[in-house]
Amino acid sequence: MLDINKIRGDFPILHRKVNGKPLVYFDNAATSQTPRAVIDSIVDYYSNYNANIHRGVHTLSQEATNAYEGARQKIQKHFNAAKSHEIILTSGTTHGINMVATGFTDLLNADDEIIVSALEHHSNIVPWQMLCEKTGATLKVIPMTDEGSLDMEVYKDLLSEKTKLVFVNHVSNALGTINPVKQIIDMAHHYGAAVLIDGAQATPHIKPDVQELDCEFYTCSAHKLCGPTGVGMIYGKEEWLNKLPPYQGGGEMISEVTFEKTTYADLPHKFEAGTPNIAGVIAFGVALDYMNRIGFDEIAAYENELLEYATEKLLSIEGMKLYGTVQEKASVISFNIEGIHPYDIGSIVDKLGIAVRTGHHCAQPIMDYYKIPGTVRASFSFYNTKEEIDLFIEAVLKAKSMLS
Ligand code: ALA
Repeated sequence: MLDINKIRGDFPILHRKVNGKPLVYFDNAATSQTPRAVIDSIVDYYSNYNANIHRGVHTLSQEATNAYEGARQKIQKHFNAAKSHEIILTSGTTHGINMVATGFTDLLNADDEIIVSALEHHSNIVPWQMLCEKTGATLKVIPMTDEGSLDMEVYKDLLSEKTKLVFVNHVSNALGTINPVKQIIDMAHHYGAAVLIDGAQATPHIKPDVQELDCEFYTCSAHKLCGPTGVGMIYGKEEWLNKLPPYQGGGEMISEVTFEKTTYADLPHKFEAGTPNIAGVIAFGVALDYMNRIGFDEIAAYENELLEYATEKLLSIEGMKLYGTVQEKASVISFNIEGIHPYDIGSIVDKLGIAVRTGHHCAQPIMDYYKIPGTVRASFSFYNTKEEIDLFIEAVLKAKSMLS
């Protein structure tokens, strides 16, 4: 059992008011809130050992380097990667996906095929379209079903010897669907295709084991799991990271530079050009420590309780239409009320102190499938409560009576 009051005490922002009302923060799928331990680690870095890493013999630089590399090891352990240099530190999920997509430019030809899913965020669609434009490869799409799952029969038919890469999210940001990634990976491997899993929405709820999944790449962002913005990671199997060229040129990613020829540094530095977000990476490690102390099984069980509670209450509202109704879901609810624009509901509940996301959630193909402009999306975290859901339901009913 989680001690929610104690947990809420760890998050300073949860005690502020918005429009004169206590904040109810249900936009966790966009960004999660930050516990005091993570904020303190950033203040500590800039107050006590701010220095560039891997560059100096002086004490501050060594302290910063040790903390940065210590964070990489925490991330390696969390995702159960076999080697710490298989963890590349990035600015976030989008950076990780673009690193792989750009890296494949020279590895594909016009006969090759890439498979993505209909449930993807734009960041897992557009980089592959750009890759196909450059290489002439063909993009194929696993279609979705009405309840928001992937049509695995069609996926089976799309796979062939031509498939070189498969990209799917672990959890859909717009609908909350948990995709059968292990099955997707195994099926792709049957044809020798590499698989990248976008874990941006899964990692706040699930602790993935990349060796058990056996994916070639797995990427996520720290800010969805209690860390700061502008930081993330991509795991890559060593053999695949060795095959890909560097994403950016610059300092720290080289072995030797002359005007005739430059050789690149070993992993992971080959992919980490320039001064990284040092404080952010260290804070990412602190965020993982914080969440692991609470426990991912406990987090998932509690969030599931919130999801079931909110789903039942929302369904009792007349005209309610939920999108994403599969059994296996993370704590994300997307909905509309008949005849009302999602943006109007979002604006009214904001006046009552409640933060939700409205719109297409950077997943326009899903909205096109349902023939809607967007949804209202409430996404719950382990620091939310049933009392907050009651306030939300009251606010939605108020919005409905004002707008219908
Ligand atoms: N990808 C984030 C979301 O779903 C921003 O809101």
